[in-house]
Amino acid sequence: MSKPIYVTMPSLAPLDEYMEILQGVWERGILTHNGPLVQQFEKDFNKILGIKNLVAVSNGTIALQMAIKALELKGEIITTPFTWIATVSSIMWEGCTPVFADIDAETLNIDPKQIEEKITDKTVAIMPVHVFGNPCDIESIEVIAKKHNLKVIYDAAHAVGSTYKNESILKFGDLSATSFHATKLLNTAEGGAVIANNIELHEKLKRIRFFGHNENKDIVEEGFNGKMTEVHAALGLVNLKYYEDVLKDRKSKWLYYRKQLSTINSFAFQELKFGESNYSYFPVIFQSEDKLLKAELTLNENNIFPRRYFYPSVNKYDKILEQSHLPVSEDISRRILCLPLYYKLTYEEINFVILKLTSQLI
Ligand SMILES: Cc1ncc(COP(=O)(O)O)c(C=O)c1O
Repeated sequence: MSKPIYVTMPSLAPLDEYMEILQGVWERGILTHNGPLVQQFEKDFNKILGIKNLVAVSNGTIALQMAIKALELKGEIITTPFTWIATVSSIMWEGCTPVFADIDAETLNIDPKQIEEKITDKTVAIMPVHVFGNPCDIESIEVIAKKHNLKVIYDAAHAVGSTYKNESILKFGDLSATSFHATKLLNTAEGGAVIANNIELHEKLKRIRFFGHNENKDIVEEGFNGKMTEVHAALGLVNLKYYEDVLKDRKSKWLYYRKQLSTINSFAFQELKFGESNYSYFPVIFQSEDKLLKAELTLNENNIFPRRYFYPSVNKYDKILEQSHLPVSEDISRRILCLPLYYKLTYEEINFVILKLTSQLI
């Protein structure tokens, strides 16, 4: 049997480069508390992406919570049900109420038309997700937010490297939050960041990250521990050197999958309509859940492990959420499968995945 092909594998710089940078950490004896490598990582990342005001934190979930905290939101936040639970749990941990607006069946992102229908006098913000790195309809969302005086926090956990109007996607909204989790295009093993659109929010986020301390170590606001460690920043710094390569590689493989599968009528694909994706996932949408399950079984039998992502639609987690019905998201969730896509994946392996996926259709 061939070696297993998983849905994803982390993109990692050579180990000796990581060891070399860790040498300095050991010599300095500084492991955390906004150390020099965290500061360097923030600086380099800002420069490579052409952004400002990035605050590196311990993970993407904390980044979302910090964004909500920084804007002092209390009330309903409209978000998408087609996401990872962290989008919704961060809203709940900050004492707000998630309200779902259904998705567009083609882009798989929150449908702006559905947002307006969900606005009440308790609505304080919109939290869209750039699903699989596919930029949201930012312009329409901005118009709605302005009209109803709402804040916008983008969950850009998947979207490092995506652009809108040729600018980093992380620049949009009042705040964007992203993830550097092991599975993401750029990883620090665990990690994340909040990107503010102004300097006051940026300063506030730095205080929130550090228990609410100001420069004089006075507690000036409610904060918590959101710090990134030097060990994680070190990994981010070495991985950052390969970021452009990884980004290019993802796009080539994504386009290859798309071309090879485009003549097969059995699948639909996520439509990229706004801006440029980072192509970090390759989802295929089957005609039915049964067809998906049959394909998944065949792939598993051949040591290929795609992932049902996102499944179920988050609104179906009825142990923590009230019952609600979001037909488009629920339908897509049942029929979507992400195929293997990562830096070390070879074209030979992709061909093998495609062969096994298509041969079971007959
Ligand atoms: C859409 C989305 N939002 C938020 C998160 C949370 O990120 P983290 O795992 O870094 O906490 C994830 C994690 O994968 C995600 O997929």
